[in-house]
Amino acid sequence: MSTPPEQVIFFDTTLRDGEQSPGCTMHHDEKVRFAHQLALLNVDVIEAGFPIASEGDFAAVNSIAHEVGRSGSSPRIAGLARCRREDIEAVARAVLPAVKNRIHVFIASSDLHLEVKLRISRQQALDQTGEMVALARTHSDDIEFSAEDATRSDPDFLTQLVTVAIQAGATTINLPDTVGYSTPEEYRAMFESIRQRVPAGDNIVWSTHCHDDLGLATINTMAGIQGGARQVEVSMHGIGERAGNAALEEVAAILAVRSDAYPYANQLDMKQIGATSKALDEIISFGPAPNKAVVGKNAFAHASGIHQHGMLANPKTYEIMTPSIFGVTANTIVLGKHSGRRALEHRLKELGFTLNREELDEVYVRFTALADRKKSIYDQDVAALVPQSLPA
Ligand code: KIV
Ligand code: ZN
Repeated sequence: MSTPPEQVIFFDTTLRDGEQSPGCTMHHDEKVRFAHQLALLNVDVIEAGFPIASEGDFAAVNSIAHEVGRSGSSPRIAGLARCRREDIEAVARAVLPAVKNRIHVFIASSDLHLEVKLRISRQQALDQTGEMVALARTHSDDIEFSAEDATRSDPDFLTQLVTVAIQAGATTINLPDTVGYSTPEEYRAMFESIRQRVPAGDNIVWSTHCHDDLGLATINTMAGIQGGARQVEVSMHGIGERAGNAALEEVAAILAVRSDAYPYANQLDMKQIGATSKALDEIISFGPAPNKAVVGKNAFAHASGIHQHGMLANPKTYEIMTPSIFGVTANTIVLGKHSGRRALEHRLKELGFTLNREELDEVYVRFTALADRKKSIYDQDVAALVPQSLPA
């Protein structure tokens, strides 16, 4: 009997890292609505916000804990805290109503951040981490510790810091590529090395958190999994600080479509990806780029004649996945100046017109002339090309 594949935990940070980026601010009710949708998507953990940041953030995390985290089968509700007593106590209060909660504590680990931003020594960082993770542990038995800027940190110090966090009670260790600087090879190697060097590293859930400054967030996340991470921190559409985070829908699609290369299971209800994308689109001020993988308007659209011909013969010619597995409705064949006769004939049939060869040739000539002048060809344009004498 073969052993079941290992699980990857989906930790969604759309409402925290995502929400704190320009154009992505959400009101209280919008956050709660989106968290309900994340529960339908069946993410494992919802990072609902940063409760110390404002009363509004506290209230949203608290409402999500109440409403979305109220049953044992609901996602775990997490809140972010710096290594400060007041932050940790705010998260503890905010997430308390959730049946499963998490306090996510972080401190910077690179010398640059310690010296310039926090103005503390390495020893002070170690002391604060030990003390604050232990404090967090008195409020929850599920503590995540993040070493901010891990990928630009001295590996020996990072090992020391993570060891202190684990000894103080952290159960998940996140090694973020905070500034999106790492390459996939480096990111994977970091997990392999730290996991090996940290005592009891095997009892810990290791987590990725990748930013997209060099467009590497998704592939770095996959590399982290190969290095032993079993939690991925992702956001819908990849929204997040600067260029954003790894996109949930991309990581989910890779795990689904390339399970030969990445043999890991997850709990997501993939059919909810379309609805989750739509919900986000309705809430924040910009949608995904049309060519965005999985959820973009063009992700399953085919405009060139050669591709349309192939798609009509067999979708496998140009599609590696079916949009319906993501609950996405696709406008598969888009008519325009690159379309061929077969695509036009197909659309005419869908509209109820069956033309003989001669008639089709005639309509096709008029179609190409129109397509040269008009960028978008709608069904009513196509219907208007058919001579009145031909009944639908
Ligand atoms: O990018 C980052 O390092 C973060 C941490 C707070 C986890 O968002
Ligand atoms: Zn981040």
